[in-house]
Amino acid sequence: MCKIKGMKQRVLFVCLGNICRSPAAEAMLRRLVERANLAHRVEIDSAGTYGGHAGERSDVRMRRAAAARGIEMTHRARQVREEDFDRFDMIIAMDDNNYEALFRLAPDREAQQKIFRFREFLSHNPDWSYIPDPYYEGHEGFELVLDLLEDGCATLVEQLGKE
Ligand code: 4NP
Repeated sequence: MCKIKGMKQRVLFVCLGNICRSPAAEAMLRRLVERANLAHRVEIDSAGTYGGHAGERSDVRMRRAAAARGIEMTHRARQVREEDFDRFDMIIAMDDNNYEALFRLAPDREAQQKIFRFREFLSHNPDWSYIPDPYYEGHEGFELVLDLLEDGCATLVEQLGKE
């Protein structure tokens, strides 16, 4: 799935604002990785293609919905940058817009091969081809994001455990 770089696998989730979907994915995968005793082997971060929320905590609606599932979100938003392609092994886009923005940012072919779509990891939700932006949605939008993230992050942690 991805190249072994030393002992650590480095995973970066990317959405638009880095205040809803990708920091929730980061916190969720981190919890699953800890539960699977893989924390020493996996580094996880998140970033946004848009930098307008840089430095902010995650959206309070996302934080509350995650907290209700026992997931604490402490991330501060930041914009994705070209150097992220050096540091991370897998850069996982939440939707096609994020994917295309990452593709444009990637400096070369090797970097492009690190970009994935989150939908590739959905095992139980084949009807969803992207993680829908919840920013202008109600509470159900945030619950849907968490449901989809739980599905994909479970697949991811399984794959990371095999490497
Ligand atoms: P995210 O959600 O990409 O999941 O963090 C959004 C956050 C902010 C905006 C859009 C989406 N925004 O337009 O400010």
